[in-house]
Amino acid sequence: KHTYIHEHACTYRRTQDSPLKVLTVATAPYLDQWPGCGGLRRRVGVFQGNRHYLHNFLQSVFSCMDLRERQGCTLVVGGDGRFFNRTAMELVVQMAAANGVGRLIIGHHGIMSTPAISSLVRKYKAMGAIVLTAGPHPGGPHGDLGVKFNSANGGPAQETVTNKIYQISRTLEEFTICPGLRVDLGALGRQEFDLENKFKPFTVEIVDSVESYANLLRNIFDFAALKELLSGEHRIRIRVDAMSGVMGPYLRRILCEELGAPAKSVVNCVPLEDFGGLHPDPNLTYAAELVDSMQDGHYDLGAALDCDGDRNMILGKHGAFVTPSDSLAMIAANIFCIPYFQHTGVRGFARSMPTSAALDKVAQATKIDLYETPVGWGFFGNLMDAGRLSLCGEESFGTGGDHIREKDGLWSVLAWLSILAIRRKSVNDIVKDHWRKYGRNYYTRYDYEGLDLDAAWQLMDDLEVLMMEKSFVSQRFAVADNIYQVEQADNFEYTDPVDSTITRNQGLRIMFTNGSRIVYRLSGAGGVGATIRVYIDSYEKEDIFQDTQVMLAPLATIALKISQLHVRTGRSGPSMIT
Ligand code: G6P
Repeated sequence: KHTYIHEHACTYRRTQDSPLKVLTVATAPYLDQWPGCGGLRRRVGVFQGNRHYLHNFLQSVFSCMDLRERQGCTLVVGGDGRFFNRTAMELVVQMAAANGVGRLIIGHHGIMSTPAISSLVRKYKAMGAIVLTAGPHPGGPHGDLGVKFNSANGGPAQETVTNKIYQISRTLEEFTICPGLRVDLGALGRQEFDLENKFKPFTVEIVDSVESYANLLRNIFDFAALKELLSGEHRIRIRVDAMSGVMGPYLRRILCEELGAPAKSVVNCVPLEDFGGLHPDPNLTYAAELVDSMQDGHYDLGAALDCDGDRNMILGKHGAFVTPSDSLAMIAANIFCIPYFQHTGVRGFARSMPTSAALDKVAQATKIDLYETPVGWGFFGNLMDAGRLSLCGEESFGTGGDHIREKDGLWSVLAWLSILAIRRKSVNDIVKDHWRKYGRNYYTRYDYEGLDLDAAWQLMDDLEVLMMEKSFVSQRFAVADNIYQVEQADNFEYTDPVDSTITRNQGLRIMFTNGSRIVYRLSGAGGVGATIRVYIDSYEKEDIFQDTQVMLAPLATIALKISQLHVRTGRSGPSMIT
C-alpha cells in the first residue's frame, strides 16, 4: 500500500511499508537498436510486440553513462505526448530510479517540447535528458515512438555516445528496474520515493515547463515590441499551427495571453496522442491546412510547428513559402532585431551541408565566420559550447540560436516577428529585399521514400564510384540551352574544429562551375526502407523572381540522369518535393 504524505506546499513523500524493491531482470539483446541522430525510432508495435524492447534500450542508455556520474545525478524527461508515451515514461522513471539516478525533472503529464527540455537540462545542470519523441513522424497505435538521449549541454548526444549505446544494446544481458514505483505525472511538485539499499530518496519533480520556457524567451526578445506588433493599433494578423502536438499550451500562453494575439491566431492547440491522424511535420505537404488558410490574404504571417516543437515553417501573406534555408539567411541578415544578440554579439553562423548557401552570402557580407556541418543538431552544439556559434539552421525546417542546444520552433517565429516589428515591412517584402541585396538561392529537395534498403545503398555506392572517376570532374551536362560543367565532386566529410573528430560519408556533392550544386544523401531517420534525398541549389544574382521548379528543372533532369534514380528504383517521380 502506497500513500502520499503532504510534507509542505509542493512536496509529496511516497512512503511504503518497506522501501521499494530494485530488481535485476535477465534479458536477451536486440541487434537493431541503432539510435540515429534523432534517437531510436520504431513503430509502436515494435515496442509492444518485442519483449523488453524498450527496457533494453533504456538500460543501454543508463549503462552508457559513467557509473559515478550517474549515481545521484539529475535527468530531465519529457515527450511529445504521442501514443504510448505515458507507458514509456513510467518505465523511464522505474528504470532511472533502479539505475541510481537521483532526481528526474519531468514535464506536467509527461509532456514537454524538445526546446523546453533542452533549456531545463541547462537550467538544472542535469546530466542530460531522455526525450520521448519520434520527431515529426506520425503517432497513434500504428505510428512511431522514439527515444532520444540528450547530453549535459542540452543537445542530442554525439555519435560517440550513440555508438556506445548501440554497442551496449547488442550484448545486453540484464536490466534493473523498480517495478513497484508509481509516479503521478499529473501532480505538479516533488514526489520522493524510498528505495531499498539507497540512502537518499529518489526524487521526481513535475514542472510547468511552459512557464520556464516563456521566461527563457522573455530574456531573448523584446516582448513589449512584440506585444505592440500583435495587439497594438497597427497589429498584424498571424496564424500559428501547433499540428496537435505539444506546442499548443506554449503558443496560448506566450502568443495569446502574454503578447495579446487573438485566441484564433493559434490553431490545433490541443495535444493529441495521434496528432489528429495527421503527419505532424511542418512543410507545404503536411501543413496543407495552414497553407490553404493563408491563401485569401487575411493573415500576414503563418507558421507551423512540429509535434515536439523544434521544427518550424514560415509563410508570408497568401501563403508565400519562405524556404528554411532562406529563413535562416534572413534571420542572420536581421540578427540585431533580436535583443539577445545585441547583448551577446554574433560569434558565428552555421548550416548543415545540404542547406542552401544563402547563409554564406550573409556571412561573407557581415564577415562573420560560417561553418558547414553534417546533418544533425549535435554538430552545432559542439560549436556553441566552444563559443564559436550563435545562429544556425538546416533545410529540414530547423532554425535556432545558442540559447539552447536544439532547434527551436517558437523561437524562430518570434525571431521573424521581431524582424517585422523593427523593419515594419511584410514578410514578403523582407524576402524580396533580401534577394535583391544578396541574390537568390533557388532550392528544392526531392525525397524518394520507402526504397528497398539494399537497392538504395547500392545506388549510392555506384553513384559515388561514378563521381570519383577522374573524367567526371570537368564533364559537361546540357539540358536545352543550359550547360552545366562539373567543378568538383566529393563525399562530404567534416572535421570538427573543436575536437578534430572526423565524420565521413555525409552525402555526395556535385558542384558546378556556375555555383549550382546537387547533393544526394540517404536519410538517417530510419523507419521503413530507405529514403534518398536529392537537394538542388542554384544561385541567381539578377533573375530572382522566377518559379523555383521552373528554374531548377534543368538541374533536376541532370540529377536524375547522373544517378539513374528512376530507372534503378522503378519510380516515376519523388514521393515528395519540398
Ligand atoms: C532530425 C534531426 C535534424 C536533421 C533531420 C534530418 O530531424 O533533428 O537535425 O536535419 O533529422 O533528417 P534526415 O531524414 O534527412 O536524415
